[in-house]
Amino acid sequence: MADQTFSQQESNDATAGYHVPVLLNEAVEGLNIQEGGIYIDATFGGGGHSRQILKRLGDKGRLIVFDQDIDAAANVPDDKRVLFIPQNFRHIQRFLRLHKITGVDGILADLGVSSHQFDEAARGFSFRFDANLDMRMDQRQTLTAADILKTYSELQLHKMFEQYGEVTNAKTLAKTIVQQRSIISISTIQELKQAVQAGVMGNPQKYFAQLFQALRIVVNDELGALKELLRQSEGLLKPGARLAIITFHSLEDRIVKNFFKTGTMEEVAEDELFGRKPANPFLIITKKPIVPTAAECKNNSRARSAKLRVAGKK
Ligand SMILES: C[S@@+](CC[C@H](N)C(=O)[O-])C[C@H]1O[C@@H](n2cnc3c(N)ncnc32)[C@H](O)[C@@H]1O
Repeated sequence: MADQTFSQQESNDATAGYHVPVLLNEAVEGLNIQEGGIYIDATFGGGGHSRQILKRLGDKGRLIVFDQDIDAAANVPDDKRVLFIPQNFRHIQRFLRLHKITGVDGILADLGVSSHQFDEAARGFSFRFDANLDMRMDQRQTLTAADILKTYSELQLHKMFEQYGEVTNAKTLAKTIVQQRSIISISTIQELKQAVQAGVMGNPQKYFAQLFQALRIVVNDELGALKELLRQSEGLLKPGARLAIITFHSLEDRIVKNFFKTGTMEEVAEDELFGRKPANPFLIITKKPIVPTAAECKNNSRARSAKLRVAGKK
């Protein structure tokens, strides 16, 4: 479960105020950087992982970075090896082709939102503040969290809170929202909190973290984008190249784990006659996911739910 309650951490990093990278050395190590290689940081953010990759890249190496949030552009280093693509990584293949890149040596994705996005009240990601229920990582997109609360049916809201937030009383919550939205406006964080206040179960911090996580996942179609990235990675990675993914909740981790295991997003049916499965183009490098040390979790509470999985292209 993603954690919305983390606080900003101290660090010497140039953009530490923007985001403190999680599993920094482990993830970059997992990419097995070749000096002259082409690497992708699909989730540039504050650029913590990218800077570490650049340290290991030679003069001829290239680093292509994606972020759908234009705020991240301010963190792009002035370095001729770097190309910033301000787009959703779900279109990775298309944008790389546009830049005449057909094969890469490694792809890193550090999923979810940055501390910057959580801490900018106006972005609407955090229930610590009051602002419009926005939650768009890409501000060119039109759909906001408020739109979802206005337009989804009771059943859609129920399923969303259940599947993406694991909210204990998802059904009641959905019912309350549908009742309340016919009486009052639910366009801001405070309006939402007030509308559902009576039904909050357990620790309110945890309850709202789950509710907000569900909304955020749907607004940004986070799982759909992850599946697209994984699907397209097969065609982009050269033999021997690496794919390293850091996830922050079980829904994401399950998708990555299954994909690495089977090499496909589809259900794998055994060949009925011979009992064979289609060949998997990936080799699992991390048999078990790598998790942060106790020291990292102590310094950066956001790290607590992180899991890193690495696969290599055969
Ligand atoms: C956890 S932060 C990454 C932090 C980064 N590794 C660092 O060291 O600063 C995730 C970033 O990825 C971006 N992001 C998330 N999903 C994305 C997607 N589908 N396409 C492009 N960028 C995405 C977010 O806007 C955010 O800036």
